[in-house]
Amino acid sequence: MKILITGGVGFIGTNAAIYFANKKHEIVLVDNFSRKGVEINALFLKKNYPKIKIIKSDVLEVKNYLSYLKKTDVIIHLAGQTAVTTSIQNPENDFKNNLLDSFTLLESVRKYNPKAIIIYSSTNKVYGDLSKLKKFSPVDESAPLDFISPYGCSKGATDCYFLDYHRIYGLKTVVFRQSCIYGKHQLGVEDQGWVAHFTKQFLFKKPITIFGNGKQIRDLLYVEDLVEAYEKAILNINKVTGKPINIGGGEKNAYNLLQVIKMLENEFGYQVKINFEKARVGDQKYFVSKNLLAKRLLSWQPKNPFSKALKSLINWQKENLNYLAKI
Ligand SMILES: NC(=O)c1ccc[n+]([C@@H]2O[C@H](COP(=O)([O-])OP(=O)(O)OC[C@H]3O[C@@H](n4cnc5c(N)ncnc54)[C@H](O)[C@@H]3O)[C@@H](O)[C@H]2O)c1
Repeated sequence: MKILITGGVGFIGTNAAIYFANKKHEIVLVDNFSRKGVEINALFLKKNYPKIKIIKSDVLEVKNYLSYLKKTDVIIHLAGQTAVTTSIQNPENDFKNNLLDSFTLLESVRKYNPKAIIIYSSTNKVYGDLSKLKKFSPVDESAPLDFISPYGCSKGATDCYFLDYHRIYGLKTVVFRQSCIYGKHQLGVEDQGWVAHFTKQFLFKKPITIFGNGKQIRDLLYVEDLVEAYEKAILNINKVTGKPINIGGGEKNAYNLLQVIKMLENEFGYQVKINFEKARVGDQKYFVSKNLLAKRLLSWQPKNPFSKALKSLINWQKENLNYLAKI
């Protein structure tokens, strides 16, 4: 298969590229390298997977990759602005990188390659802060949408466009509403990718700031499990096209922030300083994905327990310590 991945040298993109290249698919990556530090992933791919084509381009500049878009069997659309905080500081930038770019891509697929499968990496944030949830219980795809923050709006609107382009134009779209993802090649910072940010702070013995009381619960999914779900969706496209699919580590991999810090204290054998600040806008007190449709339609469930797979993220960071110190 020919697979085009936008945001291809980012965290999930790099893992997806490796996974599908190992299965001998033809891979083209489109990325504008706007995420700080992603050169490390591009260098890794160039060295170890020279057959992967990397096109340095904004998603909006479709002409730069149109010849590949026209021929591809699958598009995995991962490019975007990923942080709620950044979206609040600069909503226009968030709108452009999440909604306008995605819409332009979708329109190009409709015009030039309507038979292609196109996967969108949406987010659990489309369900808002879930403050009306009567009790903490895993969330399935029937939960009402409630967009909070510019990021919530731009990701949520794109999610809706993808579903609608199946309904109206018959495009083979699939939307994954992803929980927190972690793993190798992740450049976590305080604003986004909190597990990788925490492990990095431990590695450098630097303080961690917690927004809220640290008891907010998240289900954590190892990136290879996510990529396997993308593959299952591609192979079973008729079952999932036009559907949103909640995907996360589920109840077995649900932890609060303080519990993760405790695990890291045990792993590293020391404590880092923790500062508490007020909770961030729209922060869910609880989000755990029920993975209902992923189980039912794709026979998918997470394989890698957080307690074990976390080590592969830490080991990757240890191998790239000098580089990470600079970004
Ligand atoms: N990582 C998570 O926990 C998580 C959870 C839910 C949803 N998501 C979504 O999954 C997708 C991938 O996330 P990630 O963690 O790999 O993020 P990432 O920042 O590591 O990767 C995104 C990549 O997109 C590139 N990019 C950004 N804007 C672009 C543009 N306009 N044109 C071309 N390239 C552009 C960046 O340079 C980066 O390499 C994002 O859309 C994100 O919103 C991620």
